[in-house]
Amino acid sequence: MIGNFTYCNPTKIYFGRDALSGLYEELPKYGKNVLLVYGGGSIKRNGIYDKVVAALKKNGKRIFEDGGVMPNPTIEKVKEGVERARAADADLILAVGGGSVCDYAKAVSVSVHCGEDIWEKYFIRFEEPDCEIVPVGCVLTMVGTGSEMNGGSVITNREQKLKIGHVFGENVFPKFSVLNPEFTFTLPRNQMISGIYDIMSHILEQYFSGTDDNTSDYISEGLLRSLIHSADIAAENPLDYEARSNIMWTATWALNTLIAKGKTTDWMVHMLGQSVGAHTDATHGMTLSAVTMPYYRYILPFGTAKFARYAVNVWGVDPAGKTELAVAREGLERMEAWMKKLGLVMNLTELGATREMLDGMVKSTLIMDGGYKVLSEEEIRAVLSASF
Ligand code: NZQ
Ligand code: ZN
Repeated sequence: MIGNFTYCNPTKIYFGRDALSGLYEELPKYGKNVLLVYGGGSIKRNGIYDKVVAALKKNGKRIFEDGGVMPNPTIEKVKEGVERARAADADLILAVGGGSVCDYAKAVSVSVHCGEDIWEKYFIRFEEPDCEIVPVGCVLTMVGTGSEMNGGSVITNREQKLKIGHVFGENVFPKFSVLNPEFTFTLPRNQMISGIYDIMSHILEQYFSGTDDNTSDYISEGLLRSLIHSADIAAENPLDYEARSNIMWTATWALNTLIAKGKTTDWMVHMLGQSVGAHTDATHGMTLSAVTMPYYRYILPFGTAKFARYAVNVWGVDPAGKTELAVAREGLERMEAWMKKLGLVMNLTELGATREMLDGMVKSTLIMDGGYKVLSEEEIRAVLSASF
């Protein structure tokens, strides 16, 4: 462990079949006006909306609704939410949905009392809020992003063809999150597996960097093994509570800041994926799976030892009699076969991307410098080209 750090995660988690009872503990802590934020209507069809509204009413809350948050929420929609939150004089923003709804709620929470251009301030200049922040609570219905226990907020600017995540500090984390694995049972299969791959990618973004001996990497390997094991079970039987609950908890730990502590991190798969998302509006986890193999095969020579360790400790590759490079490559082959079996999208064409978008996607890709290779624009073009 070579890095210095501070660690604090203030989000209170209520986990399990009875997790919604947490609302009855939390709601009395906040004022009367609640902005109830949700997506395109899945919570109305599966009954979660009724349960949440009942809890709000029992606690004497005045409910102001803000539905219709789209996957990959836009800055225009955030501005609309800010107006609603102001009109409601919101004391609490309750996000009921997936990462998009949670991310959106956080973006609104830091903007209600902010007089500046929020896109420029938070998503271009990456400033921290210097205004009052409206508290956010979360009832999670889709597993993957980790948004339920972090400060991340990823917002799309369609006009500028940019999809950018701001990782806010602790005071923007949800105050509490309700995690009931059963609330995820109605997810369509493609969303379930997209979320599973998002989790895997979060762990790998933090794992494939650095050469120091770091506790975080051992935790990551454990999380990955649990994820792969449970994903295989959930793929066969999506209603397996044990597997789905393990996946849900792994998602939270994959991106609640813990496994990034004391080490460098990469995040280039996400930068590539977000650029694809900005041009196609495709499902987040699938944008990651589509670019992963070309990217990892490209950087493997610069981090061979770590890729070999990954092959052995996560995929069970037997290193006996093989070179480090051969072991590393075999690990990626096993990973690729697993991804295909799960049904993930493995190329950009299937996501609706075209070669005409290539220039724009290269321009929209933010270049990070924490991984094994800092890519040039030309290398980004090569990786994206290989992903078609
Ligand atoms: O909108 P509704 O009708 O609710 O339908 C949603 C949506 O269509 C549906 N859904 C959610 N829960 C359901 C359900 N359908 C049936 N039953 C349920 N229980 O699933 C669809 C996808 O939901 P969404 O919230 O968009 O998915 P996800 O959780 O993957 O969130 C994706 C967003 O999070 C960002 C992504 O970039 C993307 O914008 N990310 C946020 C991060 C963070 N905060 O740290 C990190 C991630 O890397 C990611 O970038
Ligand atoms: Zn992600």
